[in-house]
Amino acid sequence: MRAKRTSLVHIIYFSRLSLAADPAQRTAQIGDIGRVAQKKNEFSVITSFLVIEGSFAAQVIEGERMSVQETFARIGADQRHRDVQICEWREITKREFVHSFKSAQRVTGTEALFAKANLLPMLQRGTPKASAIHGLAVALQADAMSRQGIDHLFV
Ligand SMILES: Cc1cc2nc3c(=O)[nH]c(=O)nc-3n(C[C@H](O)[C@H](O)[C@H](O)COP(=O)(O)O)c2cc1C
Repeated sequence: MRAKRTSLVHIIYFSRLSLAADPAQRTAQIGDIGRVAQKKNEFSVITSFLVIEGSFAAQVIEGERMSVQETFARIGADQRHRDVQICEWREITKREFVHSFKSAQRVTGTEALFAKANLLPMLQRGTPKASAIHGLAVALQADAMSRQGIDHLFV
């Protein structure tokens, strides 16, 4: 018999990054965030996807209710971003993301998906829809997986 599942939730938030202007330093800072986040999320059985669009961050965090709450409390207190705002915090029936931590930025390979989602004006106005962030994160994940030849899981 399948074990009863604990309650799953996701949080979708966005924030304004306070990272270095220098591209190399900024890349190193994003790398630092990812390394720690991946370890912590693995430990807490969190799955997540971080979208970096211009100077904004938008992240989906999934997992057991208490784990998501604890993770988000840490993220909210991080000085590397500010104006952290929740778009959506709700129960979900299943996870959509497979990695403990993944991030994507606008680069040549992802440009078309970012352009289609057109998130930047919504972030600048402070009114991004949770579904727009979620949709872009899912599309970026599917694109990255399909580049690795793993598209059969995402039909
Ligand atoms: C945009 C952004 C996303 C982050 N995502 C995560 C995450 O998914 N999981 C996580 O544990 N920490 C994440 N962090 C890092 C946390 O804010 C924090 O630095 C880290 O969890 C270590 O917490 P501690 O210093 O209180 O131990 C993120 C930070 C930023 C700026």
